[in-house]
Amino acid sequence: METVLSVESVNKIYSGGFQALENINLSINKGEIFALLGPNGAGKTTLIGAICGLVNLTSGKIIIDGFDHQRDFRSARSKIGLVPQELTTDAFERVIDTVAFSQGLFGLKKDIEYVDKLLKDFSLFDKRNNKLMTLSGGMKRRVMIAKALAHKPEILFLDEPTAGVDVQLRESMWEQIHCLKERGVTIILTTHYIEEAEKMADRIGIINKGKIVQVDEKKSLIKRLGQKTIQIAYDGSLEGQALQDLQSIPNLKLDGQLINYEYQSTSAVEEVPKLFKVLVDHKIPFSEVESKEKSLQDIFVDLVRE
Ligand SMILES: Nc1ncnc2c1ncn2[C@@H]1O[C@H](COP(=O)(O)OP(=O)(O)OP(=O)(O)O)[C@@H](O)[C@H]1O
Ligand SMILES: [Mg+2]
Repeated sequence: METVLSVESVNKIYSGGFQALENINLSINKGEIFALLGPNGAGKTTLIGAICGLVNLTSGKIIIDGFDHQRDFRSARSKIGLVPQELTTDAFERVIDTVAFSQGLFGLKKDIEYVDKLLKDFSLFDKRNNKLMTLSGGMKRRVMIAKALAHKPEILFLDEPTAGVDVQLRESMWEQIHCLKERGVTIILTTHYIEEAEKMADRIGIINKGKIVQVDEKKSLIKRLGQKTIQIAYDGSLEGQALQDLQSIPNLKLDGQLINYEYQSTSAVEEVPKLFKVLVDHKIPFSEVESKEKSLQDIFVDLVRE
């Protein structure tokens, strides 16, 4: 697999002394969709800003399609399109001019046909002569995506692309992002939504408190998220065969008057009845039964502890 972006030992300490990124190492494959998943303040926007040259590194190195992003800034930057989290637009500018402008910025010849094509792809063609202030929020976000693509970048960064976007538009954006991938664009997006990472990404990186705590194929991470726990409070004491039978169940832990049993949601039908069969066979009296899902937060806690 070809690496299109590598982030090596990157640290960012803001001028006030706050460390927003701590020893970040990340390697992005050409043509993949990579989701950076993490809570508010985790460092997602800072990391994207660092890669795109908006945030100065305190230390470390970033190579974009073979170009060092500090030494060969212009070449490196021309490979990248960025849709920022905070949309800053000139309210009086027309849609078509906004999108066409960034072609010139990166030294490309004006290619109005390509701009028209982008506007059509993002269902903005009939609004092309509108001033930005007359568009809805979701439309503005689409303008920003078209603008970020106007210089035909190889890597597209989308910082919270679907924040504040309605469900229907969100799905259509997911489709458009998949189309870009099919055209060979590498995509890195940030999100808080597990669902979004699940729908979109080939790989997911979890970032928390400025550290990448896990990078994994989507499938294996989702499997971890599918882990559930049943907690059963039993009465009396466990001994003899009853105790042995319970202890022979994998992923079961006894904790005082509680039985904690972890299982995969995908195999609940086979796994959970085994536990209840032991309880019923040995007539173990139990009162409370509680089922808990692992949240992303639990996974953060687990990963940080590991
Ligand atoms: N210019 C700055 N000066 C000082 N601290 C900053 C600056 N910009 C960001 N930070 C801090 O760095 C941390 C990471 O912020 P960042 O914007 O990267 O988070 P994020 O993961 O993008 O969060 P969100 O999901 O809310 O967008 C936060 O604690 C933030 O307060
Ligand atoms: Mg952010």
